[in-house]
Amino acid sequence: MATEQIFKNNILKGKVAFVTGGGSGICKGMTEAMLRHGAKAVIISRRFDKLDKAAEEMRKEIGAEVLAIAADVRKPEDIIKAVELTIEKFGRIDILVNGAAGNFLSAIETLSYRAFRTVIEIDLIGTFNTSKACFPHLKKSKGVVINVSANLHYQATLYQSHAMAAKAGVDALTRAMALEWGPHQIRVNGVTPGPIGETVGFAKLSPVDVSKEDISRRMPLQRVGKIRDIEYATLYLASDASSFVTGTILLVDGGDALRKHSILPYPESVLNPFDSSPKKVGAKL
Ligand code: COA
Repeated sequence: MATEQIFKNNILKGKVAFVTGGGSGICKGMTEAMLRHGAKAVIISRRFDKLDKAAEEMRKEIGAEVLAIAADVRKPEDIIKAVELTIEKFGRIDILVNGAAGNFLSAIETLSYRAFRTVIEIDLIGTFNTSKACFPHLKKSKGVVINVSANLHYQATLYQSHAMAAKAGVDALTRAMALEWGPHQIRVNGVTPGPIGETVGFAKLSPVDVSKEDISRRMPLQRVGKIRDIEYATLYLASDASSFVTGTILLVDGGDALRKHSILPYPESVLNPFDSSPKKVGAKL
């Protein structure tokens, strides 16, 4: 079902959304949903060629105003400049989506020092940098912040220590910003997508020998997510429908976090680190 069949077309009319990571995947969908409901958008990413193509696509398909700015969320000076350009072009920022993120599978012992730091810098420090740079404008507009999170750290997830630590930090920051910025009428919430079938992340993070159908069967709602599911949550959190909601982290994961078992199997070497066959044990006795 299209978002327009659930939400009115004009619920974000006149609003300006600033979306890091808005050129691809889930965050592109979040941007498109806000554009379809009356907003203008600025999309931020490091690679301008890909970003500019995405912006052109959105302008053509939706007929809305979109500005693409190449910036690295890890660099405060890049983000401060992007905010200045946004104010020059659109004069305001009403909705901030912190979506820029990096992730891949790696065991702790093979993860390099730099790799761990890179993911913390993009996800967590990037969220801090961007939120801080947007704050004066969000204060003026009584705006909203949506931090894109993950459910990895609710229990523990194999081979994603970097993303787990980063997103746990993002969730803490969501609550801290909601507490401190509430009196300015800035609402700050998180949205936590579960496995979303159409994304690069899903392909990168799923085990090769487990099909989408297998993963669906392990989900309480018996399906993997669609980008559209996160679009609905975005429209709820960005609009007045959630005007008394702040500091919450909205799980949109089909019940995935309720399951106690990781999708990834342990490798044989971890399960059987030594030979404990009856013959060997018996010989020791
Ligand atoms: N496995 C293990 N280490 C990895 C890795 C992987 N798949 N990808 C990157 N790294 C390591 C690099 O080896 C490097 O460490 P080193 O210098 O010690 O070797 C460190 O992470 C930084 O990598 P680099 O590629 O220089 O950083 P980057 O800032 O350009 O990009 C990512 C890092 C994670 C964002 C990059 O892999 C990326 O662009 N991914 C696509 C976006 C993405 O993954 N989105 C989320 C989908 S869930």
